[in-house]
Amino acid sequence: MVMWVFGYGSLIWRAGFHFDERVVGFIKGYRRVFYQGSTDHRGIPEFPGRTVTLEPAEGEICWGAAYKISKKEDEEIALAYLEVREKQYDKKEYVDFYTEVTATTPAISGVMLYIASPDKKTNINYLGPASVEDIARQIVQAEGPAGPNRDYLFQLEKALFQIGCSDNHVIDLANEVRRILSEEL
Ligand code: SIN
Repeated sequence: MVMWVFGYGSLIWRAGFHFDERVVGFIKGYRRVFYQGSTDHRGIPEFPGRTVTLEPAEGEICWGAAYKISKKEDEEIALAYLEVREKQYDKKEYVDFYTEVTATTPAISGVMLYIASPDKKTNINYLGPASVEDIARQIVQAEGPAGPNRDYLFQLEKALFQIGCSDNHVIDLANEVRRILSEEL
């Protein structure tokens, strides 16, 4: 059995595990949102950063990249790695993955992804919605062991551009962060 992993955030530009194939496409019924607090990668407990999670959204799609892992030993290594990297994401889901917007049947079924849920009992770092200005200000200031939070946002913006996806939530935030940074000069 091969395993497929769907990335919609940092996994788009940095898988970090061995894979046999990378396919650009989307999942249905979700939207990408900067609602997850990060205290281990792009922020610290005293000042969390924000990373993306998925929010159920009727009629919407979320673009990203799916990675195929064929060998059992690669799967074990990838899962062990991802369980640490994505440890602030409290849920795993298995979804249908599409490559064509007109397709009614999925290109791949049972693609695994990580979600940071809004359930504060299992996800103490969840932050939820805020205005573009407030999220952008938090991103400008936050920095964690993986680097500045703004780099995560800009890398995501670039990675989405490279796969031909235009995500207004990400673009609006990136523009607001650039505006704040230009004011600081
Ligand atoms: C993902 O990339 O799929 C999960 C969120 C992240 O690690 O940025």
